[in-house]
Amino acid sequence: MSEIIKVGIAGTGCYTPERVVDNAFFEGILDTNDEWIQQRTGIAERRFVAEGQENSDMCLSAAKDALKSASVEPEDLDLIIVATISGDYQMPSTACLVQKELGATNAGAYDIQAACSGFVTALGLGEAYVASGRAQNVLVIGAEALSRFINLEDRGSAILFGDGAGAAVLQPHSVCGQAEILKTTVGADGEGWSHIWIPSGGSKRPATLNSVAEREHLIRVNGREVYRFAVHRMGEVIGEMMEGHDPDELGLIVPHQVNQRIIDAAVERHEIPAEKVMVNINKYGNTSAASVPIALHEAAEAGRLEDGKLVVLAAFGAGLTWAGALIRW
Ligand code: UT7
Repeated sequence: MSEIIKVGIAGTGCYTPERVVDNAFFEGILDTNDEWIQQRTGIAERRFVAEGQENSDMCLSAAKDALKSASVEPEDLDLIIVATISGDYQMPSTACLVQKELGATNAGAYDIQAACSGFVTALGLGEAYVASGRAQNVLVIGAEALSRFINLEDRGSAILFGDGAGAAVLQPHSVCGQAEILKTTVGADGEGWSHIWIPSGGSKRPATLNSVAEREHLIRVNGREVYRFAVHRMGEVIGEMMEGHDPDELGLIVPHQVNQRIIDAAVERHEIPAEKVMVNINKYGNTSAASVPIALHEAAEAGRLEDGKLVVLAAFGAGLTWAGALIRW
């Protein structure tokens, strides 16, 4: 068996759209209010893409940011993986659009779909390429334009989501000398497939005039079920990642930004103090696959990732899916 190469995160980047949508926007169209939204979710505002601005545009900005911080040129990339459930097109992949715009002519490119677990899942995939020696430079992006799939007639889900993109560049640890990925995990429980879904647009129910009239092309969420699953699963992932490590080694948890109450309940189980948890849901809402990489990048920018300390990424989402990563920063 060939040698397993240690993998590091050479750089991160993110992009969030300029258009800020506060809770008052929803007060005008739904039976809801700012107080309910803030108390039940922790969300004060989110960002929506502008007319004519696409998921791939956000990917490109986040990618350029990450490549710059990693000092990697686009033509040196071997692979681009985009995690998204809201790509520009059903086909081709958003990763191919990014590859073209970046001029990453030597890179393979494809999308993966694991909903809110997407970025952390893609990180593990990219890690495997570098660890096996099949790639030297991998660009992993998590990006969503969920505002295009929000049902503005459903107060239970419309208020939750936002748009954005985050990215990371992976390299052999011997090259970048930082942020070693110690372990990653993924899991799924397909029994819960219908708790978060978009009923039409796939091959089972192709879009029709009727399906659009019934709003079947938009996101549906069984909030209470997801809530229960999320608290349990996020707590489990954090526990699995920290197994065998002293709690003092922990620098920061970067959880999927789903709901302040879900994050609080999951970390409470492990008695992790609030200052060791990265939260920015108040600004961006739930950006699905983009939430962890945006939070990771903002944590890096804010100097919250201490050299030598452990960083835990923990995500879960539609599928139902979950994913985790442990990084020695
Ligand atoms: O990343 C994965 C995708 N994210 C999710 O799936 C979200 C996970 N779930 C959650 O974050 C929470 O379950 C929600 C924020 C969606 C809902 O919070 P909750 O505390 O679980 O509320 P609930 O669903 O138990 O509803 C409580 C009440 C209901 O009214 P009744 O039946 O008690 O009269 C809802 O109709 O709150 C009502 N409600 C609202 N009221 C005002 C639901 N949405 C709203 C709203 N504004 N936007």
